Amino acid sequence: MKLSPEFVPDDDLNTQLRAAKSQLALYAKDLNELLVREQKKSRKLEATNKQMQAYAQDLKAAYHAERRKTSELEKAYADTVVRLTLASRYKDEETGTHIQRLSHYSKALGLCVGLSEDEAQLIFDAAPMHDVGKVSIPDMIMQKRGPLDEQEWEIVKRHPVFGANLLAGSPSQLLETARIIALTHHERWDGTGYPQGLKGNDIPLGGRMVMLVDTYDALRSRRPYKPAFTHTKVCDIILHGDDRTQPTHFDPQLLEAFREIHEQFDVIFSEIAEEGMAEG
Ligand SMILES: [Fe+2]
Ligand SMILES: [Fe+2]
Repeated sequence: MKLSPEFVPDDDLNTQLRAAKSQLALYAKDLNELLVREQKKSRKLEATNKQMQAYAQDLKAAYHAERRKTSELEKAYADTVVRLTLASRYKDEETGTHIQRLSHYSKALGLCVGLSEDEAQLIFDAAPMHDVGKVSIPDMIMQKRGPLDEQEWEIVKRHPVFGANLLAGSPSQLLETARIIALTHHERWDGTGYPQGLKGNDIPLGGRMVMLVDTYDALRSRRPYKPAFTHTKVCDIILHGDDRTQPTHFDPQLLEAFREIHEQFDVIFSEIAEEGMAEG
């Protein structure tokens, strides 16, 4: 309020003014203290924020280190199982190049039916372990040159379950995928496969894929009971059937994909060829 020059305050007014002034001074002091406290608080908050950022940075680094360790561990697991798979092939007519080709066919097929690169890679890494259960089948059966009798055949048909038991109980996604493939790679779409006689989509995709690519590669390879067939003949058997193989054994969607990319299979087969193998 502006006072006019001729206005002379009386004593009471003076006293009131002084009181108001000192009150204002007190308020100003309080405000100042409040401001200092707030500034201190905000400095503290800033320091805490910086510390939190540092923690987050540390956590991020620890997370990445942990992921690296996990994937190294996973690779070590996979490496062990692949070695076991390689050991099992000595009992069998299947070879190291067979399991390499299987990975490549499976990945190509997976990408063709819309799997992501990571999903297709998982099948690529897991497929080689499909027959690991054969380590548990006696040599006299695995290496028998004549046809198997019914009892021997029943023992061979246990290899999916043996393999799945061998791979079970691991926290690794790779080994879990390998377990599912090992258990289901002899199931057939029409329910005539083993060990569980699963049908259609009850068979996991990895099992359905390995079923098809394993058949392709077995038909292309020489076996004690059959010569190696040409790509054209194998396509004909898979797509139209013969006395052992029927198109109803395979997932129709995968058969369609095979029809689309069968030439890639031929390239894979030729590039990862069997040593000294003659094509019939
Ligand atoms: Fe098998
Ligand atoms: Fe195989």
